Amino acid sequence: MKIEVKNIYKSFGNKQVLEDVSVTFEKGKMNLVIGGSGSGKTVLIKCMVGLYEVDKGQIVYDDRNFSDMDFKERKHIRQEIGMVFQGGALFDSLNVEKNIMFGLNMFSTMSREEKLDRVNFCLQRVNLPNVNKLFPSELSGGMKKRVAIARAIAMKPKYLFCDEPNSGLDPRTSIVIDNLIEEITKEFDILTIINTHDMNTVVEMGENIVYIHKGKVWWEGTNHEIYDVDNKEFNDFIFASRIMKKLKK
Ligand SMILES: Nc1ncnc2c1ncn2[C@@H]1O[C@H](COP(=O)(O)OP(=O)(O)OP(=O)(O)O)[C@@H](O)[C@H]1O
Ligand SMILES: [Mg+2]
Repeated sequence: MKIEVKNIYKSFGNKQVLEDVSVTFEKGKMNLVIGGSGSGKTVLIKCMVGLYEVDKGQIVYDDRNFSDMDFKERKHIRQEIGMVFQGGALFDSLNVEKNIMFGLNMFSTMSREEKLDRVNFCLQRVNLPNVNKLFPSELSGGMKKRVAIARAIAMKPKYLFCDEPNSGLDPRTSIVIDNLIEEITKEFDILTIINTHDMNTVVEMGENIVYIHKGKVWWEGTNHEIYDVDNKEFNDFIFASRIMKKLKK
């Protein structure tokens, strides 16, 4: 299973955000997209799932050319995609259960009981049982992320996109969320792509790291390879903090 991004371009007005970006993401690895704030990580994910149209280039899901498809044809692939938005993006007016059930209500033919079973299974899976009737405003940041993950996996996605899943969380909770995404990825055999600038995530989980800079794929490699890169921009980004500098030696 793979998603190929082929020579994509995306601009807003006269601001070129992505310029000739090509990258292949494969199942079975933790795929991380990293880069500074405003480098285009979210735009890349949004282009990949069709929330933004690319100006040029192609997105191909397992040999199915998403970019060439019309709205109706894309529907099938969209239903295979789970997305954890930056900031969670839960529906504030819906309780946890209804948030997670949203996709199932839209697209599945399951009975109400089956849908409830699925919701409860997903909530168990993210270690949040018995919060069905709570509203997003009643949840902590970490709980919101878990609900967002539960919602993203409710439809049994083949592809999972997580945009900064652990931003705004304390270091321990961040690790818990990272581990949860990794477990879910392996357990359900999902192709997962994570946007992050969390260096702990990079060091611990980066099996395939794609560094975006100035609209381009500036560097690609694994977490074992980040220490020996001969590139100033990359090193300035990765080893910005004192703690990371110590790792570099
Ligand atoms: N809908 C939009 N209209 C205009 N400009 C946009 C739009 N979406 C994103 N941009 C611009 O694209 C650039 C990349 O934004 P993006 O959100 O992808 O950054 P990012 O790498 O995700 O940053 P962060 O780490 O802060 O989330 C920014 O300059 C942003 O202003
Ligand atoms: Mg972003």
